[in-house]
Amino acid sequence: MKSGNNEPLIFEKSAKDRIGISMPKSDCPDVNPNNVISKEFLRDDIEGFPEVSELDAVRHFTRLSQKNFGVDTDFYPLGSCTMKYNPKVNEDMARLSGFSKAHPYQAPELSQGALQLMYELEGFLSEISGMDAVTLQPAAGAHGELCGMLMISAYFKAKGKPRKKVIIPDTAHGTNPASSNLAGFTVVTIKEGKGIISPEAVASVMDEDTAALMLTNPNTIGLFETNIKEIADIVHKKGGFVYCDGANLNALMGIAKLGDMGVDVIQFNLHKTFSTPHGGGGPGSGPVGVKKILEPFLPVPRIIKRGKRFNLGFNCPMSIGRLKAFYGNFGIMVRAYSYIRAMGPDGLKKASEMAVLNANYIMEKLKKAYHLPFDQTCMHECVLSDKIQSEKGVYTLDIAKRLMDYGFHPPTIYFPLVVPGAIMIEPTETESKETIDRFIAAMMTIANEARESPDIVKNAPQTTKIGRLDEVNAVKKPVLRWKP
Ligand SMILES: Cc1ncc(COP(=O)(O)O)c(C=O)c1O
Repeated sequence: MKSGNNEPLIFEKSAKDRIGISMPKSDCPDVNPNNVISKEFLRDDIEGFPEVSELDAVRHFTRLSQKNFGVDTDFYPLGSCTMKYNPKVNEDMARLSGFSKAHPYQAPELSQGALQLMYELEGFLSEISGMDAVTLQPAAGAHGELCGMLMISAYFKAKGKPRKKVIIPDTAHGTNPASSNLAGFTVVTIKEGKGIISPEAVASVMDEDTAALMLTNPNTIGLFETNIKEIADIVHKKGGFVYCDGANLNALMGIAKLGDMGVDVIQFNLHKTFSTPHGGGGPGSGPVGVKKILEPFLPVPRIIKRGKRFNLGFNCPMSIGRLKAFYGNFGIMVRAYSYIRAMGPDGLKKASEMAVLNANYIMEKLKKAYHLPFDQTCMHECVLSDKIQSEKGVYTLDIAKRLMDYGFHPPTIYFPLVVPGAIMIEPTETESKETIDRFIAAMMTIANEARESPDIVKNAPQTTKIGRLDEVNAVKKPVLRWKP
């Protein structure tokens, strides 16, 4: 770690009895807490509580925020974990007091606007994906996957013939096997062949104990699963469902509907497609769309419309129940709704076209200097590798760190696992050609450095306040709280 220039912890800035607020003298009689609160809930002191002035606190947190790198700062080309730009109009809409101050216990008669927005958002997502019904309840993409798999499990249990297995390709996002497992299934892995899965691979393992095939389209290599219809037929013939991880819908909006390709369940990662903040699996949103056959299993409450009135529907005996307190993260729904309304059908289509164009532009330029494991037209993201650079002892991690010296957030690295030393780049549609060219130029310079003077790359980053962190220890022994 480089010394100096590091912001001390707020605890280290503390000075006894320094305070940041001035309160008027209380005009209430003093109450001894010991007389009104039981002993087990009282503590003598808050050990090490920082005592700083308002100005110290403001400067501390402002300086910390300036060290952060976000999509509002510069290019942030994470593949798979997309940092899509969130237009500020979404934020304005989410802050409208009718939305932001709505209380979840407010009666439906007093929440007609919020319910209408949710109802219409469900409709937009159904229309975009070609599904029949949608729930907005799950709090993240992975939570949506769990929701979908629980519905599939409930379907087979309701038929009196529970099934045990789920087929998942080796290119899948790690959350896919995890969600299937949590829903009680055993995962059967199949290998991709030339980047996509083959009907033969699915047919060889599909049987009447398999509840579903879970695939991602476009997949995590950034390729379109061209055999999807044929594969779906194989799964359906044995009575199984096709679950599509729809996290990569940003490549398809307004161009193709997954529902038309034989998909029965899909989750939407609103942050990757509909420009909402991610929320780190917490206050995010991962709605789920289903075909009619699975609609009775959707979580409750459902949003229902009778005439011009909206209501919450709880009378769904086959439902898997509630997945989230209240109705999901409403503020995120407002942002997605606002984005879809602002873009309109043509705008959404254009966004997908631009996302795909930008990824292909980067791929074509960079394949001159970096190994491209699957040399074919990609969708919204492209995957390169460090195969050429590793001959000089320069690896993906070094390239990623060196990019920071050139002012860029590194792409996703070492994922997907099927590509050794993967460098996964997703530019999204919002970046200008100038920004993308700047990024390409930086990557080309790094490729030259790796060839001519590899140590520069191996010792990167050189310009950041902190150099290379011990990432293994940071994961294995995280220091999550300050101790006096
Ligand atoms: C393909 C894919 N599936 C699932 C997920 C998990 O989504 P989330 O992080 O919202 O849980 C992601 C990440 O965004 C993803 O890229």
